[in-house]
Amino acid sequence: MLSNNRLRIEGGVPLRGRVCISGAKNAALVLIAASIMAKGETILDNVPYIEDVNVLIRILQEMGVKVHWNEDHSLSIQAPDDMIRVQASADLTRKLRASNLLLGSMLGRQAKVAISVPGGCDIGLRPMDLHIKGVQALGATVDIKHDSIFAERENSKGAPIYLDFPSVGATENIMMMAALTPGDSTIENAAKEPEIVNLASYLNAMGASIRGAGTDVIRITGVPELKAVRYSTIPDRIEAGTYMLAAAATGGEVVLENVIPQHVYPVIAKLREMGVVVEEQNPGELLVKTPGKLKPVDIKTMPYPGFPTDMQPQIAVLLGLSSGTSIVTEGIFENRFKYVDEMTKMGAHITVESSTAIIDGVQSYSGASLYAPDLRAGAALVMAALAANGISRIYNIHYIERGYEDLPDKIRSLGGEMVKVNDGAEDSDAMRRMMLKVI
Ligand code: UD1
Repeated sequence: MLSNNRLRIEGGVPLRGRVCISGAKNAALVLIAASIMAKGETILDNVPYIEDVNVLIRILQEMGVKVHWNEDHSLSIQAPDDMIRVQASADLTRKLRASNLLLGSMLGRQAKVAISVPGGCDIGLRPMDLHIKGVQALGATVDIKHDSIFAERENSKGAPIYLDFPSVGATENIMMMAALTPGDSTIENAAKEPEIVNLASYLNAMGASIRGAGTDVIRITGVPELKAVRYSTIPDRIEAGTYMLAAAATGGEVVLENVIPQHVYPVIAKLREMGVVVEEQNPGELLVKTPGKLKPVDIKTMPYPGFPTDMQPQIAVLLGLSSGTSIVTEGIFENRFKYVDEMTKMGAHITVESSTAIIDGVQSYSGASLYAPDLRAGAALVMAALAANGISRIYNIHYIERGYEDLPDKIRSLGGEMVKVNDGAEDSDAMRRMMLKVI
């Protein structure tokens, strides 16, 4: 059903102040998935209150896992000692691409799993061939029928696995299953994202034997069981990057708290090239300010430590306000320029040819009614609206709520003019116009 919930943003106010970055969505999701492999009650700290986490919690609860929030971003998880229900409802799993991470963790702890082909943002094909090849190499049999993946393992054994592409999810799934699979496994051409290192450290704290996470080759020796521990999620490098860019786009000055600067270095490097000042003030704090006109730069998204695809729409918004032409090439997902039509409504000059966007900087954006096409593109539109002259209304905000905790509150704490307007509240004229346009 079409929702009328929206963000109303009055742009043109430079963001100023301090903002605390939440735990990382992508790290929290995989730590939660891995927790079902432990015996006993796990406590995960610094878990963000976001919709993707809530959907994964509901999936696990349906499967018989006890999950509840404690005070202050801490989550308790306890899987039953016997079998977990092998499949959650398709309605829920389709909402969340990361539900595919239950393939590896379920196969680690028990002989059978079935997952509906997962959903998430529509940013490209996002196949699962590498995940499937990986668990098959470890001895699982996999059958795909009616939009579901059924997998079973019997006598599974460690194996060498080479990934054709350093897929984050495939590396995570293989690492989880291999942690409880007898014998030695290696993952070559593994993903090196900070979330992979966070997962490996967590599994090791649970008693696993994993070396090399964060490099191209991960070596895993299977152990018979994993114990429940208390562990913390790393800060969200994409949320941090989004606030850094929002500060720069509005010409403001913001200090980010709870960041690991090394994790955002690929973004910092590009911001500095553009003329933005980024300084590490105290441990875990970054100051961002823009002294003058932004310079254009070229960017290509790549696996970590390259420039993250999850920051591509946001950096495009910033480049659109620079004093020249920039070229942005998307190297990971094939469908990540869906924000361009919305940006055009705001006065941006962006042309897309295949996987490349050519961005000619403009003086300023103008407020408009906008539709978030996916999570990160939605965040980029919020940034553009904050920088724009006039009022913007952003619809489809369920995408943004999947991954950004308390966005309106955090932006308001920085002086930005942004409110969430719920279904049926004021502003119905905008909705009427939108409905007419859709019809
Ligand atoms: C994760 C992140 C997502 C981020 C992406 C890339 C989570 C929950 N999500 O997604 O935010 O944008 O990493 O940094 O952590 N591929 C295949 N076959 C496979 C798997 C992937 O061809 O079996 C391809 C994909 O189509 C894509 C590329 O590999 O082109 C990268 O995907 P992958 O690294 O797997 O991304 P996700 O784990 O889905």
